[in-house]
Amino acid sequence: MLYNFDIVIDRSNTNCVKYDLRHKVFGNPDVLPMWVADMDFETPDFAREAVMKRAEHPIYGYHFKDEPYFNAIRGWLLRHHQWEVPTEWMSFVPGVVCGFNMAVMAFTQEWDEVVIQSPVYPPFHHAVASHGRKLVYNTLKQGEQGYEMDFDLLEKQAKTAKMLILCNPHNPVGRCWTREELLRLSEICLRNDVLVISDEIHCDLVLPGYKHTPYATLSQDAADHCIVFHAASKTFNLAGLATSTAIIPNKAMRETYNNYVEAMEAHLGNIFGKVATQASMEQGDEWLQQLLDYVQGNIDYVSDFLSEHLPKVKFFKPQATYMMWLDFNGYGLSEEELWRKMTQEARLGFNRGSDFGQEGTGFFRINLACPRATVEEAMRRLLVFY
Ligand SMILES: Cc1ncc(COP(=O)(O)O)c(C=O)c1O
Repeated sequence: MLYNFDIVIDRSNTNCVKYDLRHKVFGNPDVLPMWVADMDFETPDFAREAVMKRAEHPIYGYHFKDEPYFNAIRGWLLRHHQWEVPTEWMSFVPGVVCGFNMAVMAFTQEWDEVVIQSPVYPPFHHAVASHGRKLVYNTLKQGEQGYEMDFDLLEKQAKTAKMLILCNPHNPVGRCWTREELLRLSEICLRNDVLVISDEIHCDLVLPGYKHTPYATLSQDAADHCIVFHAASKTFNLAGLATSTAIIPNKAMRETYNNYVEAMEAHLGNIFGKVATQASMEQGDEWLQQLLDYVQGNIDYVSDFLSEHLPKVKFFKPQATYMMWLDFNGYGLSEEELWRKMTQEARLGFNRGSDFGQEGTGFFRINLACPRATVEEAMRRLLVFY
C-alpha cells in the first residue's frame, strides 16, 4: 500500500496545541505552525482502526497492559533495533517527559547534580530545575560535520553528578549518536557512578543511512545503570494518547522505579493508547519506511532551498528526527528582532532557539513532519530574510 503524505488536513479548532495556540504563543494567529513535535500527517489507518474498534465497546473502565501489548513492543524493538527486551524490563508510563521526571524524583535527591546536553528539548531543563536538583550543562560543541559531545568537560562534571539525561537521538540538533560516542559516554558515566536516563522517543525516526543504538545495548554494565524511554507516539503521531514505555534491565532499579510510578498512580494509562500502540508496533513497519522517505524529501527540499536562496542561514542536515535546527545569527539581529520578523513579517511559527538553552539564541527549530506543500509555503514566506 502506498500512503499519501501530501494530504493537507485542517487541524484548527480541535484543541490542537500546534494550531489553536498560535495567537497565544506567537502573537499572530496566522503563522504557519511548524513548532510542536507532532505531525500534520494523519495517524496511520491501523492505529485509528484499533482505537475505533475499542471505542465501540460501551464501557471505558480501568484496564491493564497484557502480554500481546508488550510482545508487540518487544517485536518492534527486536526488528528495528536488534534489541531483545524481556517483558519484565518494561513498564508503562503515560509520557516520556512524565517518565523521566519520575526517574529524577526516584533516583536523585534535592541539590544533586544532573547533566543535560544543551541545546536540548526544554523539559530536560525543567525536569532537573523544577524538582530542586542542580542543572549541569554539558553543552554540545559544533564540529566541522555537526554537533559533538564534549567528553573532556563530561569527565570533570561526572565526578560530582548523580545522573545524566541523554537525548538519543538528539532533539533539536538531529544527531543520531554513534555507538562509539555512546560507548565513550557510558564509560565516563559508569566509572563515576552516574545513572543514565536515555530518552529514545525519536529512535524510530532515524533517517536513511543512519542507525540508532539503544543505550542499554552498549554493554551489560551500561544496561545495569540506565533507564531507557521508548514510545510509539512520535513515530506514529499518537502523542495525544499518552502512552510510553520505561525499560529498566536492572531488577533493583526497576522495583524502585515501579514503586514510585505506582505510588503516583501513573501506571494505569488509557485504553486507546494501549490499542493504538500495539497496532502500530505490530503493523507499522511499511508506513514508517514511507514516512521516513517523505520526511527526508522535506529535509532535502529545505536544505537545497536555504543553500540556494538564504545562505546566511546555517544548518547541519539532521540524521534523525523530523526537525531542523537553523542558525539565523548570520543576520546580526537580536533574538527579539528575529522573533518579530519571523512571526509578524514571515508569518512563520517555529520554535525559539533559546528555549532549548541559551546557546540556542538566534536559532529556530522547524518541524518538517508536514505535507510538502506546507514546506514550500514556509520557504516562500521565509524569503523575507532574503
Ligand atoms: C526528546 C523528547 N522527549 C520527549 C518528548 C515528549 O514525550 P511525551 O509526549 O511522551 O512526554 C519529546 C517531544 O517533543 C521529545 O522531543
